[in-house]
Amino acid sequence: MASSRQLITMIRSHAAGDEERFLAVAEHIAADALKAGHHRMADEIRTLVGALREEQRERRVASKPTMIAAPRGELASLVRATYPETRLSDVVLTSDVETRLRRIIREHRERNLLAEKGLNPRRKLLLSGPPGTGKSLTAAAIAGELGLPLFTVLLDGVITKFMGETAAKLRIVFDAMQGARGVYFFDEVDALATRRGAENDIGEARRMLNSFLQFLDEDSSGSLILAATNHQELLDRAIFRRFEATISYDLPPPDHVRRILVQRLPQFDLLGVSWPEISTAAEGLSQAGIVAAADDAARDAVLEEKGMLTSEVLLRAVRERRHPDR
Ligand SMILES: Nc1ncnc2c1ncn2[C@@H]1O[C@H](COP(=O)(O)OP(=O)(O)O)[C@@H](O)[C@H]1O
Ligand SMILES: [Mg+2]
Repeated sequence: MASSRQLITMIRSHAAGDEERFLAVAEHIAADALKAGHHRMADEIRTLVGALREEQRERRVASKPTMIAAPRGELASLVRATYPETRLSDVVLTSDVETRLRRIIREHRERNLLAEKGLNPRRKLLLSGPPGTGKSLTAAAIAGELGLPLFTVLLDGVITKFMGETAAKLRIVFDAMQGARGVYFFDEVDALATRRGAENDIGEARRMLNSFLQFLDEDSSGSLILAATNHQELLDRAIFRRFEATISYDLPPPDHVRRILVQRLPQFDLLGVSWPEISTAAEGLSQAGIVAAADDAARDAVLEEKGMLTSEVLLRAVRERRHPDR
């Protein structure tokens, strides 16, 4: 029989719109039922889960954003459109960050309910933290969870050295937010919004910052505006007031090292791996560095170890990523 913990998790995941977790718990219950000899119940749950998964697949295909969202004209040089299938469960996050992101995703799924009470979902999010910790991946996951296109703003195209031109290009991007609902991602936003901009009152940098702030203020589209920075300390203070939530990313704690490796190496048996040793060796590596080490180790395992991923192979891969020139 399902445990009360399982039931609570199911209800929670249903409320959060986390269909993946909901189905995973249902599958667990079916497996437990089978172990306990309740074959009919296990069968029935599996049939239901199978049907739900099929429905989910069809919905994903049907909700694939049409090419109406494909940027045309000048916009095409200012944003790159992608249609991520990434889910939030693909991103290894602290439970605090995960909960906050799931709440924001839910606000968008249930924006009609909020609208009935005159409320809006939060749309402007600032992601900050060191490189390779999952900021861009989060932007893709939010788009994937909401079935929205991800428009990555190409700052090289937006920022020009000609007076006033940057503002005109930014306007094109902000106009697009009205026309095509999506996740608009300003990666490395410090390039647009550094403090130096405000301190230096003659430069184009200040003009650029001011127009960015103004567009952020005026925006009333249904799109999400995500900005990411590796250098929060460089951002102008005025930027922070424009964002409705700031999410901080950091290098991974030891249990995340393990989670990322396990997630990245599903084809290998990792039972023999000495995790404390691996986590110590991985200290200082970003999540992206750990993913890269996992891929190195997988290649070595296949080519040198007949497909066995030993603790030694993994340790060597992590060390080499940690000290690439040794
Ligand atoms: N928190 C994470 N969980 C799982 N994989 C991650 C995480 N952070 C980074 N990665 C891996 O590293 C790659 C690059 O990370 P990215 O999101 O671009 O980092 P950032 O934008 O913070 O610099 C991702 O595509 C993913 O493979
Ligand atoms: Mg990034």
